[in-house]
Amino acid sequence: MPYIKTMAGTEHIRRALLDWYDVRRRDLPWRTGPGEASDPYKVWLSEIMLQQTTVATVGSYFGEFMARWPDVTALAKADLDDVLVAWQGLGYYARARNLHKCARVVADAHGGRFPNTVDGLLELPGIGPYTARAIAAIAFNRAAMPVDGNIERVTARLFNIETPLPQGKADIAAKAETFTSDHRPGDFAQAMMDLGATVCTPKSPKCLLCPLADFCEARKKGSPERLPARVPKKARPERCCVMFWLENGDGGVLLRKRPESGLLGGMTELPSTPWREGAWPDADEIVAHQPVDMDWAPVDGEAVHVFTHFRLTIRLLKGTARAGANTDGFWVRPEDFPAHALPTVIKKAVGLVRDGSA
Ligand code: ADE
Ligand code: SF4
Repeated sequence: MPYIKTMAGTEHIRRALLDWYDVRRRDLPWRTGPGEASDPYKVWLSEIMLQQTTVATVGSYFGEFMARWPDVTALAKADLDDVLVAWQGLGYYARARNLHKCARVVADAHGGRFPNTVDGLLELPGIGPYTARAIAAIAFNRAAMPVDGNIERVTARLFNIETPLPQGKADIAAKAETFTSDHRPGDFAQAMMDLGATVCTPKSPKCLLCPLADFCEARKKGSPERLPARVPKKARPERCCVMFWLENGDGGVLLRKRPESGLLGGMTELPSTPWREGAWPDADEIVAHQPVDMDWAPVDGEAVHVFTHFRLTIRLLKGTARAGANTDGFWVRPEDFPAHALPTVIKKAVGLVRDGSA
């Protein structure tokens, strides 16, 4: 095979990895068999779901979405609330809202067909540079290189790129881009993802099983698990709040909707003081935020929830409203909470009231 001599390094890597993928690829519900055309709807749906969760978690959600909304037109017609409830457990509800919005745009403005270029896809709600490239490559065989966490790690190791993240991101992405090719771009991207997920794992890469071991600079230097390097994280700021568990004699509990924009936008929550840095030691200050003026009893314990940018410690006050009390919000029996897409942080607070655990 004399042409081998003239192949560039990246071409060796591409071939070795595609050969590995043809044998070792994971059988995932949105993937088609070798040579079969992909369904852009499945590719898009899986990519949006995978933005925040592992392949293992996404599996059952993906199946449920496909069963209920088998194509983009069906999803466009769905009730947003149904979509949000079905999304529960996948986190980041803004993504679910954008998913629905995107389905509508594709159904209404594109005749139910996804645009088949990176630029066209970028115009859609909820589709950023990574997702546009992933869909373009996987669904439409466009020469595009999506760079997710797995591809970033594999690339940093293959080329021993030592600049720590987040600064190193651009260098790593530029190197990953050198793999861009018209030849099986979707398979190549997914092969990198699979390699990162199953062989070139974050803590203990299995270099002995790796089809790219001969090309890997980090392996040659030793301890590839050190890459990609990261600058040490700052501690998360601590925020505190007091939430109100108000019952109404009929078994209902007062809930309210969060503002549409911002953290957990549009999600249902318990009435609460603001979430601020610093505790709430002063009762007068707390009651300034109560949903009705009354006597409250403290609930034992605290709940803690960790968000990306801060940690929230929740204390709870409990009370029963007089009949006809005038409040903002709506009354829901705890057994009906599942229909309201409560975010995890609120579920933890509910757990504290109901069984003293969170
Ligand atoms: N992560 C994101 N997209 C993926 C895909 N298509 N296959 C495997 N892992 C992924
Ligand atoms: Fe990752 Fe090891 Fe393969 Fe390098 S040789 S790509 S570190 S698994």
